[in-house]
Amino acid sequence: PTRHTDQPLLPQIKQIVFGRYVVDTWYLAPYPEEYSCYSCIYMCEYCLKYMKSEYVAGRHRLKCTAKNPPGDEIYRDGPISIFEVDGRKNKVYCQNLCLLAKMFLDHKTLYYDVEPFLFYILTEVDDEGCHFVGYFSKEKHSANDYNLSCILILPTYQRKGYGNFLIEFSYLLSRKEGKLGSPEKPLSDLGLLSYRTYWKSTVYDQLHNAPASLAIADIANATGMTIDDVVTTLQDAGFLVKDEATQQYQLQVDTEAIRNHVHKVHAKGYPTAKADKLRWTPFI
Ligand code: ACO
Ligand code: ZN
Repeated sequence: PTRHTDQPLLPQIKQIVFGRYVVDTWYLAPYPEEYSCYSCIYMCEYCLKYMKSEYVAGRHRLKCTAKNPPGDEIYRDGPISIFEVDGRKNKVYCQNLCLLAKMFLDHKTLYYDVEPFLFYILTEVDDEGCHFVGYFSKEKHSANDYNLSCILILPTYQRKGYGNFLIEFSYLLSRKEGKLGSPEKPLSDLGLLSYRTYWKSTVYDQLHNAPASLAIADIANATGMTIDDVVTTLQDAGFLVKDEATQQYQLQVDTEAIRNHVHKVHAKGYPTAKADKLRWTPFI
């Protein structure tokens, strides 16, 4: 999408050369002035260092030994790999990551105070290394039970199901923690679209072949979604009907619509987050 129309006429980084891709930016990011005066900057796809010229980037490539994100690999399924990076232990990497994300997010305000967060980096693995696809951040301790602060999939990799995969992964972590969670608000337009799609297919999956006695709390516990998010999703689907006699809401599902939707989602063949591929214990 083109998103430069509302931007002030400031010097702006319009493109990033990132690994083998040239990526157009969407929003301004507060890079140091000696970088933000360039219309194109270069980034190491492994350590996320940003540089001013092709020449500097070439020299960096010769001496940078990183072939994957820092931190621990906590998930591996074929070519898909996720690393957990602690904002306190790898501060510069996480700050560079937040600056990169700001170029695709309007309202993001956090770039430098990364220590209270863990970062989950999604990569695609080949013979050369683990190529950065996207990430999400998560507070180590959330007062509101947010299970995700900020999510980004690089535009080159968008609309392939990776955003959906990371959202699913964030709920997998919540279930491992024995908690219900929800993303930090406000959501961006794309964030809301992606969450609505995820919530719908997740709730429909639960309703598919579910016992007649299934309650809202069961859906929340099985998925890690909050009761509020389950209720909103059921309302959007038209499955919550008020019984005029008792004034209570009742689940009234359209089994045909559910079956069709579940089949449609499976036919997409998007990656799914599998509990048995996760090697992880919650942060304490
Ligand atoms: N237009 C319409 N629907 C969309 C779009 C879009 N551009 N993007 C996602 N969706 C919906 C669709 O239903 C899609 O399913 P479909 O492609 O089968 O139709 C579904 O969401 C899942 O799409 P994915 O391919 O899994 O999503 P993607 O990998 O593109 O990542 C993300 C989504 C992370 C929101 C990406 O668009 C992005 O990085 N945007 C910029 C940063 C951003 O806005 N992040 C969210 C901020 S809110 C927060 O962080 C809490
Ligand atoms: Zn590097």
